[in-house]
Amino acid sequence: MNKIKLVVAITVVGFLGLQYTFIEQTQDPAKDQMKNNQTNNDTNKQKTMKPINKFEFKPLPYSYDALEPFIDKLTVEIHYSKHHKAYYDNFMNAIKGTDMESMDMMDIIRNISKYPMAVRNNGGGYFNHTFYWESMKPNGGGLPTGKLKEAIVKSFSSFDEFKKQFSDAGKTRFGSGWAWLCLDPKGTLFICSTPNQDNPLMDIAEKKGIPLLTMDVWEHAYYLKYQNKRADYIDAFWNVANWEEVAGRYETALKSLSTK
Ligand SMILES: [Fe+2]
Repeated sequence: MNKIKLVVAITVVGFLGLQYTFIEQTQDPAKDQMKNNQTNNDTNKQKTMKPINKFEFKPLPYSYDALEPFIDKLTVEIHYSKHHKAYYDNFMNAIKGTDMESMDMMDIIRNISKYPMAVRNNGGGYFNHTFYWESMKPNGGGLPTGKLKEAIVKSFSSFDEFKKQFSDAGKTRFGSGWAWLCLDPKGTLFICSTPNQDNPLMDIAEKKGIPLLTMDVWEHAYYLKYQNKRADYIDAFWNVANWEEVAGRYETALKSLSTK
């Protein structure tokens, strides 16, 4: 029953806009793509970009310098226009000429074990980064409110304890990966981390759930400003967390669970 709820929830969330992707090789593909990808560093142009197709490379929801001083302009620019774009391009290449071209992104993600590693890595990178950008906003931070705050306190005893556990998930992720706040099929919040470009929606995830908040802990997310000090980047992340977006995702996820 719970599995059915989760599948329905993932489908609903997918239709509500989580249409991204997964990519990668064992190494960061952006390094190989840096010279080839066209970089649009004009924020105004980004806002007017049209979707190429249903696998849209979404415009960054703010300017490159909007998260300063917590996440610097150059990091955001390279992260979005080089790394994220490379995952997207590699994903599109990986699905070219296959049945995946006509599939819903969420169907690919939740059945990721059926597909080549290039789809898992690059599709994951495509999807996760879009989710990450929208998990942050200029002048973010502060505290969640309403039902989300209540749920966080209920699950983690306090907001500070939640922050500690989420931060620890990012700090202790060996190598590259992500920290997540998710909703499980019973409607309970949990924190996890995933390696490389995996995420909790994938059928290969240790614990599956609907993602509500994510934090990229790949070195490319922080190295230019924080060098090897991942913990400092994680501390800074809380100043740009987009709690309005997370609250909206939480409401949507709860509704999707309640429909079945
Ligand atoms: Fe990244």
